[in-house]
Amino acid sequence: MIKPITLGNKTFPVNLIQGPLAGVSSAPFRRLTWYYSRPAFSCTEMISCKTILHHSQAALERFIKKDPEEGPVCFQLSSNNPSELAEATKRVTDYGADLIDLNCGCPVKKIRSKGAGSSLLANPAKLYQLICAMKQNTSVPVSIKIRVDGESDEKYNQEIVKVVSEAGTDFLIVHGRHWTEQYETPCRYDEIQFFVEALSIPVIGNGDIACVDSLKKMFATGCAGVMIARAGVGQPWLIRKLITEMQQEKFSLPSHQDIGSMFITHIEKLAILLGSEKIAIVEGRKLAKYYGRCLKNKIEFCSAVNKCENLAELKMLTLEFYFHGNHDN
Ligand SMILES: Cc1cc2nc3c(=O)[nH]c(=O)nc-3n(C[C@H](O)[C@H](O)[C@H](O)COP(=O)(O)O)c2cc1C
Repeated sequence: MIKPITLGNKTFPVNLIQGPLAGVSSAPFRRLTWYYSRPAFSCTEMISCKTILHHSQAALERFIKKDPEEGPVCFQLSSNNPSELAEATKRVTDYGADLIDLNCGCPVKKIRSKGAGSSLLANPAKLYQLICAMKQNTSVPVSIKIRVDGESDEKYNQEIVKVVSEAGTDFLIVHGRHWTEQYETPCRYDEIQFFVEALSIPVIGNGDIACVDSLKKMFATGCAGVMIARAGVGQPWLIRKLITEMQQEKFSLPSHQDIGSMFITHIEKLAILLGSEKIAIVEGRKLAKYYGRCLKNKIEFCSAVNKCENLAELKMLTLEFYFHGNHDN
């Protein structure tokens, strides 16, 4: 249920978290989520330690920049090299990471072939070294985000419990699917529960949460907190809605005009972060379908955004769709 959560040496007033989403989880998205939802914290997208160590500060902006108006941020790193991870851990601590997570769930071939992401689940000795490298180089709470055995032949759940405990991980995030499984496969709550019961550290459950019913099902595993990833895109108020409804109170949804303004703010802030209106507009094309959920003619909205060339045009057409009664209710 909704309550404060202590992760390592930090306590957060609520136990819902905005999860990492590559291509989405930069400061403008997290800032909106913080403003409308006040989650425990939000995550960056996965950042390769090589990128952190070898790219200029300017090239890193989109990954590492925190907005002064956002809340706590968990930096998610990717690596299979303990000394690199040690150095990257120091750097992101200096950049202001409030927590640090190691990605152990990414199914992408390019990441797995480097021995990182979900391939770490089958390499407990390396995973132990990696967690120690993080723990020894920061004072902020450290976690790993994993996938589960599922119906695969890989049986690593038990081994992960051992490694996580021995290495002193502060908390564990579990996405209840095997790394080969797509989103059509339902989240495996029973395996999340296995980790909850086997570990003494807090376990964060993740997978398929978008409403109070699914959230209650996740909390029934006994998990200390819940991470919400995809459902938060285009509805930065979602986590606050879930918190409010879990407390049996009524949540007033933002107006369509407010949602239109959120979309514009998201793209404007992206343009500043990326130093390019053009790139921000391209990113805006991917986001339109999420912010456009409430529009009667969202397909037309998305296609108009697709043709849009600059911020002024984007604002005009968003005003037209959101402010002139072109929506469902
Ligand atoms: C487009 C996309 C990008 C993602 N990027 C990341 C990532 O960078 N790091 C990570 O740990 N998980 C990533 N995930 C997985 C999510 O964080 C989450 O574990 C998964 O979507 C299940 O949670 P959900 O049902 O709440 O979305 C990504 C998922 C999607 C769909």
